[in-house]
Amino acid sequence: MREAAQHCRGCDLWKNATQAVFGEGKPGAEVMLVGEQPGDQEDLQGRPFVGPAGKLLDRALEAAGIDRDDVYVTNVVKHFKWEPRGKRRIHKKPSAMEIAACRPWFDEEVRVVKPSVIVCMGATAAQALLGRNFKVTQERGKVISREGIRFVATVHPSSILRAPDDQTRHAEMAHFIEDLRVVAGQISGHRKAA
Ligand code: URA
Repeated sequence: MREAAQHCRGCDLWKNATQAVFGEGKPGAEVMLVGEQPGDQEDLQGRPFVGPAGKLLDRALEAAGIDRDDVYVTNVVKHFKWEPRGKRRIHKKPSAMEIAACRPWFDEEVRVVKPSVIVCMGATAAQALLGRNFKVTQERGKVISREGIRFVATVHPSSILRAPDDQTRHAEMAHFIEDLRVVAGQISGHRKAA
């Protein structure tokens, strides 16, 4: 699938991207973390969450007691959508059509990995997977069961990087870690029940 996604022409995003960035992690991982789309670094390196948002995610996972090696990390859209600003490539939000075009890849990842908990990070992932009226601000940190899979929604780690000052950033990071602890509780509970 990883190889096939490189040839995907389901929408036009491939034209300006370096490569498709497929999910990665342990097959059979209990937790699948889902973001929006690869960023600049991810596009260049071909791996999800390796840029600044990924570094923050790694710290939060560790603080919540979740080993990144035990999770599968992916995005609802596999190509980087961007527009130039000077020399920089600025992230652009994917459209509903682009998200829908990419959905078969995500559904296959779920079918193969079979996670017991899917963590939607940010509104794009949450609304794609839990419905377009889903409000992350109201529903974050709650366990939501759908078709035999548990979902937990939380903010996107890059929203924490955009916090206006240190105090807000620390508070938002603490809240993000709290949401990930809910996820950690779900997997240890699952192991006990098994
Ligand atoms: N933001 C995302 O949503 N996904 C990545 O892989 C990197 C940044």
